[in-house]
Amino acid sequence: MNHLPILFDKPEIKIVLLEGIHPSAVDLLHADGFSQVLALPGAASGEELARAIGDAHFVGIRSRSQLTEQALASAPRLLAIGCFCIGTNQVDLRAAARRGIPVFNAPFSNTRSVAELVLAETILLMRGIPQRNALLHRNGWMKSAARSHEVRGKTLGIVGYGHIGTQLGLLAEHLGMQVVFHDIEAKLALGNARQLDTLDAVLQAADVLSLHVPETPQTRNLIGARELARMKPASHLINASRGSVVDIEALVDALDREQLAGAAIDVFPAEPKGNDGRFESPLTRFDNVLLTPHVGGSTLEAQASIGREVATKLARYADNGSTVSAVNFPQVALPGHAGRLRILHVHRNRPGVMAGLHERVAAAGLNVAAQYLRTDEELGYVVMDVEGTCDPDALRELSGVEGTIRCRLLGDTASHGGHAETA
Ligand code: NAI
Repeated sequence: MNHLPILFDKPEIKIVLLEGIHPSAVDLLHADGFSQVLALPGAASGEELARAIGDAHFVGIRSRSQLTEQALASAPRLLAIGCFCIGTNQVDLRAAARRGIPVFNAPFSNTRSVAELVLAETILLMRGIPQRNALLHRNGWMKSAARSHEVRGKTLGIVGYGHIGTQLGLLAEHLGMQVVFHDIEAKLALGNARQLDTLDAVLQAADVLSLHVPETPQTRNLIGARELARMKPASHLINASRGSVVDIEALVDALDREQLAGAAIDVFPAEPKGNDGRFESPLTRFDNVLLTPHVGGSTLEAQASIGREVATKLARYADNGSTVSAVNFPQVALPGHAGRLRILHVHRNRPGVMAGLHERVAAAGLNVAAQYLRTDEELGYVVMDVEGTCDPDALRELSGVEGTIRCRLLGDTASHGGHAETA
């Protein structure tokens, strides 16, 4: 059933943040004029989750709260979801899209943290520190320069020259390293980095090889026995991307044969679900392997940055309808709309919806000053800035257009921050 669009003020918007999201998010939302921000420390499920989000317009979660179809059904006013983390598989993205709810996340806020850790590991591996550290923990002593090298002048090979790979390359150059990389796409090489033609060429050139590819069918076991055999003798491998990218058995074999001098591994094919879980890996027996519990991106700075990034995306969607970087929704980048009423209309992508909308806007005596439309296979998202005498009730018919999922009105931001919601 459709409801009338009713303008309501920004302070009436209720935002619920679960799972101890960083205070930077609350600060940003308050500064943007949202006064009803409820920040709760833990995750919620079942009835508790339904109660927590039941009257929320915006919900923020991290990785533990499961926003299933059923949970979404308990939040009829929900306009958007913010995942204050990288992954979004804790949300039923299709169910959210079907309800006209965009989902935002923070894919790049921890880029710098990963790059810094990998840089530190590069130095530690080249100096043979992991095995020396392990020996001293067992009351041994190994004061020797054997197999201990400066990184200056050595070659760092990067596989996957995206956000993390590029940052790492620049940082490594500051230490005097040569940077070569392999990517499936032609990339702009930053600094003095060089893109080599093949993965093999990078394997053969690198003193330290660092992996920064996404998890895809093509990157599964990207580094296996064949690739490890092509690496320079006594070189090092770093994997802080995804556990599936390295064939662990092949890595164990290369370490046993001392084909590699060492490795630093942050991600694993199977990882404990929580800090009370037990970590099992055939790599634990190697002193020259630095093992970290998937903490590449885990810093307080990254948490603060994630808080700001996702809160900014939610505020922008609330204030002007922008869906840039939404993971389940057609993406529309929007300018301000001072002096105009803005209509945000989410609909099933089928013929006739736009005609129906234009007909009703014209019947309300309004002129379309600007229009932005994006569609994907299932959804259409159109934003119209309209001029004329602004009577929101006259626009009630908009949500009657066949195929409407959700319609929201944003008041003229120059005079008031009104919002309205239908359907
Ligand atoms: P990105 O998407 O910016 O870059 C990935 C790059 O890999 C792209 O340039 C892409 O073209 C390239 N690529 C894709 N398939 C490839 C293939 N088969 N061979 C060569 N290159 C390929 O990703 P970003 O942000 O740099 O992240 C990289 C990885 O780091 C991801 O797997 C991500 O999950 C992981 N990560 C790990 C963290 C940790 O805590 N250890 C934290 C953050 C990200």
